[in-house]
Amino acid sequence: MKLRLDRILTSQGLCSRKEAGIAIKKGKVLFNGRVLKSPKDKISTESLIITFDNTSYTYTEHIYIMLNKPAGYECSDAPVVHPSVKDLLTPIHRHRNIMSAGRLDVDTTGLLLFSDDGQFIHNIASPKKHLSKVYQAILDKPLNHQDANRLLKGVRLENDAKLAIALDVQGIDTNTVLITIDEGRYHQVKRMFLAVGNSVIKLHRQQIGDLVLPQELPLGSWMDLDVNLLGLK
Ligand code: URA
Repeated sequence: MKLRLDRILTSQGLCSRKEAGIAIKKGKVLFNGRVLKSPKDKISTESLIITFDNTSYTYTEHIYIMLNKPAGYECSDAPVVHPSVKDLLTPIHRHRNIMSAGRLDVDTTGLLLFSDDGQFIHNIASPKKHLSKVYQAILDKPLNHQDANRLLKGVRLENDAKLAIALDVQGIDTNTVLITIDEGRYHQVKRMFLAVGNSVIKLHRQQIGDLVLPQELPLGSWMDLDVNLLGLK
């Protein structure tokens, strides 16, 4: 694909269109090691290396990252009480208009994906893709077999006609379970446990599709995501 030089800079989240024009005209940007001074000229973005502010970047059409979300951050661009999860990312991410693929509650921790690729965001969230999400839930009370079976058969959530079904429920210790769902309804896991007379004290998402939150990714940190690891169909 061929793109204008100033467009290339802005698409990578490096600066505004105006700043790009000025920097290119001043010869401050290298494209594959060469100074090109006409912002409107088009070049191929294939394997393109851009050097800007003494740092080199490989052009990417889209970015995909995963965050280990800590508690106390809102999945919103207009957070009300707490900071936005986007505050944990870089200015480059924010300039690229990165969005989270679905949301986690402010007190939920764990795996949260981001991208500037609208189709990808849609695929992660779309119920049609049946991408499973595994949560570790610490419960107020131990979960008995009967209630685990009710979750597997499907429970009715308040103000929601459609049953919410758990694909898997596994006990870890007395009050801790792993629950797998393939939807993302509002407060879904918490409401499912409420439907069987229990409540969630702590919630952590540890897996989306085939992708397990890497143990080496500390809470509050992000890393690049290889989308193939999700096992999306
Ligand atoms: N279900 C919830 O109840 N909360 C989350 O943050 C995610 C799933």
